Amino acid sequence: MLIDIQISHPFTSFEKIPVTIFEEAQEACIKVAEEIADLIRLKQQQGSNAVLGLSTGSTPKKIYAEFIRLHRQEGLSFKNVICFNLDEYFPISGESIQSYKYFMKENLFNHIDIEPKNYHIPDGQIGLENIKQYCEEYEHKIQAAGGIDFQLLGIGRNGHIGFNEPGSHISSSTRLITLDRITRSDAAVDFSGIANVPRKAITMGINTILSAKRIVLLAWGERKADIIKMAVEGPVIEFVPASYLQAHPNTSLVVDDAAAGLLTRKKAPWLTEDVEWTKQMTKKAVIWLAISCNKPILKLTNNDYNENGLSSLLVLHGTAYDINIKVFNWLQHTITGWPGGKPDADHTNRPERAEPAKKRILIFSPHPDDDIISMGGTFQRLTDQGHEVHVAYQTSGNIAVADDEAFRFVEFVKDFNQQFQINSPDAEKIFIDTDSFLQQKKSGEPDIQELRFVKGLIRKGEARNTCRFVGIPDENIHYLNLPFYETGTVEKKPIGEDDIKIITSLVQQIKPHQIFAAGDLADPHGTHKVCLDGILAALANIKHLDFMKDCWLWLYKGAWAEWDIDAIEMAVPMSPEQVLRKRYGIFKHQSQKDGVVFQGTDNREFWQRAEERNRATAELYNKLGLAEYEAMEAFVRWRF
Ligand code: F6R
Repeated sequence: MLIDIQISHPFTSFEKIPVTIFEEAQEACIKVAEEIADLIRLKQQQGSNAVLGLSTGSTPKKIYAEFIRLHRQEGLSFKNVICFNLDEYFPISGESIQSYKYFMKENLFNHIDIEPKNYHIPDGQIGLENIKQYCEEYEHKIQAAGGIDFQLLGIGRNGHIGFNEPGSHISSSTRLITLDRITRSDAAVDFSGIANVPRKAITMGINTILSAKRIVLLAWGERKADIIKMAVEGPVIEFVPASYLQAHPNTSLVVDDAAAGLLTRKKAPWLTEDVEWTKQMTKKAVIWLAISCNKPILKLTNNDYNENGLSSLLVLHGTAYDINIKVFNWLQHTITGWPGGKPDADHTNRPERAEPAKKRILIFSPHPDDDIISMGGTFQRLTDQGHEVHVAYQTSGNIAVADDEAFRFVEFVKDFNQQFQINSPDAEKIFIDTDSFLQQKKSGEPDIQELRFVKGLIRKGEARNTCRFVGIPDENIHYLNLPFYETGTVEKKPIGEDDIKIITSLVQQIKPHQIFAAGDLADPHGTHKVCLDGILAALANIKHLDFMKDCWLWLYKGAWAEWDIDAIEMAVPMSPEQVLRKRYGIFKHQSQKDGVVFQGTDNREFWQRAEERNRATAELYNKLGLAEYEAMEAFVRWRF
């Protein structure tokens, strides 16, 4: 149902809420924290309270970290702050590590000087019969505090704000609601499986949120790009609750580049401003036009350009025919069956250099299966074409192995030892410890060290199996076990000096002509981004070294998302047999098959996701008028 709301903002662009885009979430969080800190200080000067509406989840964490820093290092006091949290799971105990009460204490309240009587979080243990009254009182408390001065929001992938799921009414107030399937599956990681995620929650209503004097909604990462576009550029509709914010006179969205990726000003910037027609911009526009008109590039006409806001390209190039040919050729030149360069060929229009014919190649794989999932076909070709291919597994990937799978291995070792009368007190102890730990393990509890070790070993064996299947020797496999990852929980440490040192020394040892790394920043736990940051920091440290002049860095995606077609600089086609072979390579990762620990909302297995993405890339090339392949892997070159 469309809701008739008069938008009071004078925005004429596609965006109906002011959006500020930052390159990185960190920078954005500092800015937003500063705005809130200014409000707190102003209220202090006025001798009154600052009333904040707060959210939980991964999005606001850096804001809270900045509050703690401001408190510790700059003396910002929270004595005059009154907080109301948006929501809480129901039922849940405040002691439970998944509760929002626990989250708020851990991430903020325990580290600042706020008075405990001044923070309010809906009680996840209130009796069902009292909930209605409890929710009314929550509303009264907000009003009694003078209303919310500043409301911080995240956004769910289904557009929820607070836990106002799709379908929530604009006049809703604090209440008990039923959680949506997407919300529950996004929370599954924290609860060790969707079955453990509560089905209900208490949440402030849309009206409660819209009554705040100022609202800032934050969003980070590619995963939020779709919903940000709908909330900002789409109609006000109850199925996208965040779109109600269009009706609020003092709301801002603060997003990073990735979350802004689908806004018209990013997707088709020529529609919102004057652009400089660089090669990249021209390619982007022509591909966009072909897709919008549902035509291959070579069939686009002058009319198509004129009618779709691209007449300035015609002015620049003359006719559609001239632009079409140019862009068609650019795209054609991205396709190569020789990802390591074609020996003895003229490489002027090829993505890779011909020389040296045999290259040293280093593939970085953040988790033990990203190499084969994201670039299995290319990995195989590089090996078959005689290059010296190395793979570096950056993390152990140990948190993604199911407990019963790990215990099966521990038991196997015990039985094996028994059968052959091998006396191994250590193996015996690991068996006893893991057994007793698993008997009483609570949902979400980090594993004991031994179990983590076993899980890491399982993934190491699977990675080795893939490498042997592809055909690279064992000595070319490098397990980096980067320390940042080894927290035992989904939450990782930031990249540190130790991690960077390990990466640097491997690159220096191999002196690669080509590096492949995951640029797949939609990974829900952020590990891929940290792994890439580590590589970039390592390469920056050694960029002055001689061999680095000949070192090209290629980024792949695949497990979670694919590059936009206009960004692709190398597309490696795959035959039907190669697609099957890649599938078998992915099958080597048995612990990641048949329902994985971190399935996310995508129910497909990794081999299915990879295959469908690779097929979609090939289909898109074909739709644009290029040759028809079974599948394609895609890469973007990172220029230092
Ligand atoms: C949390 C809340 C939710 C989250 C949203 C985004 O208090 O109300 O609306 O803001 O689900 O969650 P993250 O930040 O984990 O992506």
